[in-house]
Amino acid sequence: MSVPEIRRVGVVGLGAMGAGIAQLAIEAGFETVGREVSDELGSAARDKIAHFLQRKVDKERMTSTERESALGQLSLTTELADLADCDLVIEAIVEDLDAKLELFGALEGIVRPDAILATNTSALSVTEIAAGVSTPERVVGMHFFNPAPLMPLVEIVRAELSSDEAVEAAFGVGERLGKRPIRCHDTPGFVVNRVLIPLLNDCIRVLDEARVSPEDLDTAMTAGAGWPMGPCTLVDLVGIDVHVHASEALYEKLREPRMAPPPRIVAMKNAGLLGRKSGRGFYSYD
Ligand code: 3HC
Repeated sequence: MSVPEIRRVGVVGLGAMGAGIAQLAIEAGFETVGREVSDELGSAARDKIAHFLQRKVDKERMTSTERESALGQLSLTTELADLADCDLVIEAIVEDLDAKLELFGALEGIVRPDAILATNTSALSVTEIAAGVSTPERVVGMHFFNPAPLMPLVEIVRAELSSDEAVEAAFGVGERLGKRPIRCHDTPGFVVNRVLIPLLNDCIRVLDEARVSPEDLDTAMTAGAGWPMGPCTLVDLVGIDVHVHASEALYEKLREPRMAPPPRIVAMKNAGLLGRKSGRGFYSYD
């Protein structure tokens, strides 16, 4: 399969991950089209990106001119049809297979035949998502980590039918975004989540087993194991719902008990305690 030179990048879904990916793309100088389902959600994402770029200016990591130029690279839309000229589209919508299959099916009818379609899924199968299109060779995983602008890793995931060219083009984009890309195959959880999800579930179980508070567990793992942030702070950042979904998806595929979300965190999800984004998780946020 021949792949285009990547100049124009589409990002579908501008939530925490999509907005972060769009920020990376405009900072790297790509023309970027961000698609959200409403103008309000699109504007909120642009405001968030503008805020983080301003913080970089304040800290003299970027000039005002560079900030303006980056923001000028971002166009927003609610119409998928506006992604027609994109060389690469990165999907960062809800972690729901049916929604992703529908989106990829629609994108296939909109973008050029040589455009690459990437998914930022963290726990679904890239191969299953690719099965929704008639040209699965152009589908790859580009799995970013939260917060996407700060975390250096991107996992470039080869699905069963991904072409070498699509994988290498996605890897090259990862490098141009300033990331440290790695190549891996489409196995449940890929590399990091395969290790991190059961580890975080163990941490949550230890809360009850050792009768330790979230604050003390976080102190234990930062001060005793050198983690940059404690497990409760991290799950609050990632989102309790996102973590539960990823755990359930891995458990469904691997049937390893450690993958299953502990009842305590499932109860938090059901109660609407979703972490930072809902204002309350293990901790409270203003
Ligand atoms: N987007 C863009 N910029 C952001 C941001 C975001 N979401 N969040 C913070 N920033 C910017 C801010 O401007 C901030 O500066 P400011 O506070 O002066 O405005 C600047 O980044 C630096 O932020 P911090 O001072 O908080 O940076 P730290 O040095 O404390 O590091 C960290 C923050 C990189 C997040 C570090 O704590 C860390 O590495 N934590 C671990 C995170 C992790 O493990 N993530 C992976 C989660 S798993 C995952 O994502 C997989 C998925 O599939 C579930």
